[in-house]
Amino acid sequence: MGKHMIFSCFLALTLFNVAFATDPMPLQDFCVADNSSPVRVNGAPCKDPKLVTAEDFFFTGLNIPGNTSNAFGSKVTTVSVAEMPGLNTLGVSMARIDFAPKGVNPPLFHPRATGILTVLEGTLLVGFVTSNPENRLITKVVQKGDVFVIPVGLVHFHRNVGDTNAVAVAAYSSQNPDSTAIGKAVFGSTPLISDDVLAKAFQVNRNTIDGIQSKF
Ligand SMILES: *[C@@H]1O[C@H](CO)[C@@H](O)[C@H](O)[C@H]1NC(C)=O
Repeated sequence: MGKHMIFSCFLALTLFNVAFATDPMPLQDFCVADNSSPVRVNGAPCKDPKLVTAEDFFFTGLNIPGNTSNAFGSKVTTVSVAEMPGLNTLGVSMARIDFAPKGVNPPLFHPRATGILTVLEGTLLVGFVTSNPENRLITKVVQKGDVFVIPVGLVHFHRNVGDTNAVAVAAYSSQNPDSTAIGKAVFGSTPLISDDVLAKAFQVNRNTIDGIQSKF
C-alpha cells in the first residue's frame, strides 16, 4: 500500500469513528419518544407522527431557579428526552445549572455527550481532567457571557467562586447525556463496592472508606 492509500484508510477510519461518536442521525423528520411503548430499543420508539403535537417539542420552566439547598449547593435542571419527548433521535439536549455562593457541581462525567456551557449570572470556576496517563487539569474562570466546552466523557466540575448566586445554561450533544457523579458512583453505588476494594484503590484504611460511604 502506498502512503496515500494508508492515509486514506486512516482518514476513513477516523471519519467512521467520528460519525458514531455521537447520537446517530435521524432517519425521518422526527421520532417523538413514545414513553408508554413496551418496546425496548436504543433510544425510544416513535409515537405515531399523526398524534404528535407541539407540546412534544416544548418544555417550560427553565427560567425557574433550581433549589440549591443541598450538601453541594448546586442543582442541575435537565431538559433531555425524558422531559421533552421530541428530542428522541435528535442528538441534542440542554440543562440549567444553579449555584449558591461557594456551591459545587461535584466531579462528574457525561458518558454520551460533549457539553457546552454559557454563564448567565455570576462567576464560575470550571475544569476538566484529561484521560490517563497525563490527567492534566484544565481550568478557567468564566463569567456572564463566557462559553466553555467540556469534551465528551471527561471528568469535570464547576464551582461558584463569586459572592452571588450563579446560573449557567449548558447544551449537550446527546438527547440523553446522563451524568455519572464520581463520588456517588464510587462511594454510593447500590449495592456498595466493598470497602476492601476501595481501601486498596485509594490507599487508605477501610474506616476512611466507611466514613466516606456513610456520606452517600
Ligand atoms: C429546597 O430544598 C430544601 C431541602 O430539600 C427544602 O427544605 C426546601 O423547602 C426547598 N425549597 C423550595 C423553595 O422548594
